[in-house]
Amino acid sequence: MLSFFLQKKKTATQENFWIEDLKKQPRPKFHTLEIADIKRETDDCVSIAFKVPANLRDEYRYAAGQYVTLKAEIKGVEVRRSYSLCSSPLEDEIRVAVKRVEGGTFSSYANEQLQPGMKLDVMTPQGNFTVPFSPSKSRIYVMFAAGSGITPVMSLIKTILWHESRSRIVLFYGNRSVSSIIFREQIDDLKNEHLNRLEVHHILSREDQGTDWLKGRITADKVRLYAEKFFIPASVNHFFICGPEKMIFEVKDTLEQLGVEESKIHYELFTVSTAGQNAANDTIKSTKADVLSHVTVILDGEETHFDVSSKGVSILDAALDAGADVPFACKGAVCCTCRAKVLEGKVVMEMNYALEEDEVEQGYVLTCQSHPVTERVVISYDD
Ligand code: FES
Repeated sequence: MLSFFLQKKKTATQENFWIEDLKKQPRPKFHTLEIADIKRETDDCVSIAFKVPANLRDEYRYAAGQYVTLKAEIKGVEVRRSYSLCSSPLEDEIRVAVKRVEGGTFSSYANEQLQPGMKLDVMTPQGNFTVPFSPSKSRIYVMFAAGSGITPVMSLIKTILWHESRSRIVLFYGNRSVSSIIFREQIDDLKNEHLNRLEVHHILSREDQGTDWLKGRITADKVRLYAEKFFIPASVNHFFICGPEKMIFEVKDTLEQLGVEESKIHYELFTVSTAGQNAANDTIKSTKADVLSHVTVILDGEETHFDVSSKGVSILDAALDAGADVPFACKGAVCCTCRAKVLEGKVVMEMNYALEEDEVEQGYVLTCQSHPVTERVVISYDD
């Protein structure tokens, strides 16, 4: 029997969370939402659905592949974490999946203590790990996911299957073992219901499935092999990759070597390695002249002024110190919550894994990564 989630709405309506135009998505904002449901997906992963009151529905409309930031006070300390939505905007639901990570403050709290009826601060959805979908399209999508990287991919898969009835998807999904496969039953149900449109290959690192190409991790060699056996790189409209940083860049580089245009490769990073952060810190220290800058930050039409040195803290941290309630989540260049536009002066970013090239060209920066290099800088979170 197909599980109940397949019976839900599959067309874009006012009642579900479908958004037509991402450009109309409001600037991210926290609201306190009640937990509607918690489902155990695997031994170390829960999914959490939220109740969205009618007056906030428009703010929580989202695109498949986007994420929300959750905020909670745990043992007296404010903790913020971003989690991808695993629900499709075509469902009447807004749901994230949280996999426990070793020593993870929020993920342990979510897996052990959260209950339906409790309340959490949930930021409105954001993110660029998506493309516009349309029933008129007939596309081929290839997706690579590992572990909890399946979360946004799950949202994308459901949306494509339900909204683009002529499109096909090939999914390569890496896990340790069968028992650690998040959404295993849901994926099987979708595959059974859309036999000719969804092809799934599970790659397991600790279980033998009888073939070398399904054993181990998703590596460059495997991507080359899969490109011979399961898809023609030039025929694929979009590739989506989500998982550990190493896997993402190995798959992305290999696809590019196989001739895939960069614009067709979409990836979502959850964190950046310490090595990457250190390299960025070293670069910024060695390349910046030390300028003391007078910075103006505009948020909700209000200005906050402060001075910060180009070798000091980021503009985001300086703005928070100055009392501005500026938005942030990861402070690690991956989530895009701290995005703002430079209206005057110049800043440099240490790292950027969140903004698209055209956004950077238009003057958008990640303020958690930005340092001023001119004596006056004006930055707006409202543009
Ligand atoms: S807070 Fe996440 S990119 Fe700046």
